[in-house]
Parts: sequence; structure tokens; C-alpha cells
Amino acid sequence: MIRSATEYLPVDAIYYGDCRDLLKKIEPSSVALSVWSPPYYVGKEYEKDVSYEEWQSLLSDVIALHYPILKPGAFLAINIADILCFRDASMPRIMAENISRRKVAITREQILEAKKAHPDYNRYQLAELLGCSEQTIDRRLNGNNIRGGKYQTQTRVKLVGGHIEEMGIKAGLYLYDRRVWVKDAAWENSRWHTISLRAVDEFEYVYIYWKPGITKVDRSRLTREEWINWGSRGVWNIPSVRANDDHEAKFPLELPRRLIKLLTDQEDLVIDCFIGSGTTAVAAIKENRHYIGIDKVKEYVELARHACRNASYQSTEEMQLSLAIREKLDRFKIRPIKRVQATRYPRT
Ligand SMILES: C[S@@+](CC[C@H](N)C(=O)[O-])C[C@H]1O[C@@H](n2cnc3c(N)ncnc32)[C@H](O)[C@@H]1O
Repeated sequence: MIRSATEYLPVDAIYYGDCRDLLKKIEPSSVALSVWSPPYYVGKEYEKDVSYEEWQSLLSDVIALHYPILKPGAFLAINIADILCFRDASMPRIMAENISRRKVAITREQILEAKKAHPDYNRYQLAELLGCSEQTIDRRLNGNNIRGGKYQTQTRVKLVGGHIEEMGIKAGLYLYDRRVWVKDAAWENSRWHTISLRAVDEFEYVYIYWKPGITKVDRSRLTREEWINWGSRGVWNIPSVRANDDHEAKFPLELPRRLIKLLTDQEDLVIDCFIGSGTTAVAAIKENRHYIGIDKVKEYVELARHACRNASYQSTEEMQLSLAIREKLDRFKIRPIKRVQATRYPRT
């Protein structure tokens, strides 16, 4: 059934609902860029009842729903991370000799030697012989469990990129580019870091898919400095959002802003179907693009709408203020003074 233009979702608005329903209501071939960060399957509040299979099918459905609404030659940018603590019941327990944390000097070799000399000794007898606890005997022989409690399901790293690459290809969208976003190191999320050899969580990906068609390449979208600093660079260093008080998984404004500047023109339509606190829409407003945002949580929809109202208001106000200042400066023929960076003294 072909919808009439009035049936499509009007732009410059945030919608409440499941994006699998609402993406179908966006005008076909109208979107210049879709930027989003889906649930990561890491146990956030808004994904707590979702199984791994449901999560995968959410992603593949949403990616597939993009094909009809993207303009030919347009892009879909997905910000996502690998799952660092993926539970796997079939995984053997991680065994480790945690040398630096040892309180008792007995080594595995000493216990094996004692066992050889007394093959009929159980661990209690071996403990008595060596002057340590039976727990030490057990630890040295059977290893420590690096993560979580002894009886918890083991976790491993799950790579996500390959899966979503395939989902894109199935939908007719091709991976055009990928960038790495280096965020703040999340030490607090790595409660195991002192007893493991693993790295902390400090980077994510941006996968950029392309819908076949003619893509406009306009080098003047960025300044020379922007091309040098991030436009042509595969690694983006952008600090994380510190105040995640109203939404637990915001990405920084700079992330969608860069994608919008790089991949779209003024007045283009940018969408985010996992809008959360409204970051992508705010970036679109600031860069003079139209937007559509969707979220399935009512409070986030309100939050995003509020952020958009503020962004529009601020930009108008800022514009008026700078116009007024420029007028005054022009009248008195004064050139704007360059801002001088304050000197920073090292803390004593
Ligand atoms: C990682 S957060 C996005 C945060 C956002 N980028 C920001 O800066 O605030 C994912 C969002 O997707 C929403 N969400 C999850 N499943 C959804 C679905 N099926 N339809 C629409 N929104 C959904 C969640 O409520 C959450 O706000």
C-alpha cells in the first residue's frame, strides 16, 4: 500500500514507540543519515528483559527497516561496542595462578611433590603436612576463578561487528567505513581488573553503512583543520558524558555532530531510532539539519523533547546575541578580540 505524504511522520519531532513500528512510517528515500546507538546487551535497565536472541533480532529488524527510508547513496552509522562480559555456560572456568595476591608461600610444585610422596593423602592431610589451609591446596591445584564467584557462569568477550556487518548485507546495506571512538576508561566497570590481565573498557566502534546510489562528496563540509583532526582519521578521541544522571547511556554530542557534518548537508534529514536523551536531535538542530527521534521509554521521549526545545531556543538566542554584538562592533568599527587561553599552573 502506498502512503500519501501526509501519512508519514512529520520531521523535527521526537516520537514515543517501538522503532520497529515507527520506522515504517518514515517517508521512503527521505533520510540522509541515520545515527544511533542501540542497547548493547550489557544489562541496562531498558534492556533487562531482553534475551540475546531477541537483542539480535531487534538489531537485524531495525537495520533492515532502514533500506527503504534511506536515500540512495545515504548512510546509516551505528555506534556499538563488543560485549566484554558475555555469559557462556559452556566455557571452562578461567584458571589463574594469582602470584601477586598470594598470602601463603606454598607453590603448586611443592604440593605436587608432596602428593607424589604421599599419593594416598587427601587435601586436608596435604594441608597439615605443608602447614597451610586445605583451601590453599585446592586453589593451587585447581586454580582461582578470575571473574565473579566460584559458581557464577563464566564470561568471555563477544565480538559484535561481524554479526551486524552480515545484517547490513542481508538488508542491502554495505559497510562503507568504520571508526573507533576512544572514550574515558571505565575503571569502575572493571571490578575484576586487579585480578585479571584484561584491559578496561575504553573504546567503541562507529560502523558506517552505505545504501547503493550516488553519494555526494563535498570536501567543503569540513574545514581544513577538521579534515586533519578527525574527518580523515580512523580514531576519534572524545570524552564520555560524565553526567549520565537522567539517561544511563548517553553518547557525547560531538559523536553525532561529526557524523552529521561529514555525511550530510544543511536541511538534510537525520534520524535516530534509539534517541534516548535526544543527543542526535540536538546535534542535528545545532548543525541546521532536520531530525526525527524515536524511543520506547516515555521519560526519555520527554527528556529528548526538552533537550530539542532547549537546543532550538539556545541557538536562536545565541544567534541573536552574536548578531547584536556584531552590529555594535561594526558600528564602532571594532574588530573582535581573540580569546586568550588562560595559563594553567600545575597543582602543587
Ligand atoms: C544506548 S541508548 C541511546 C542513548 C542516546 N544515544 C543518547 O545519547 O542519549 C538506547 C536507547 O534505545 C531505547 N530503545 C531500546 N529498544 C528500543 C526500541 N525497540 N524502540 C525504540 N527505542 C528503544 C532505550 O530506551 C534507550 O533510550
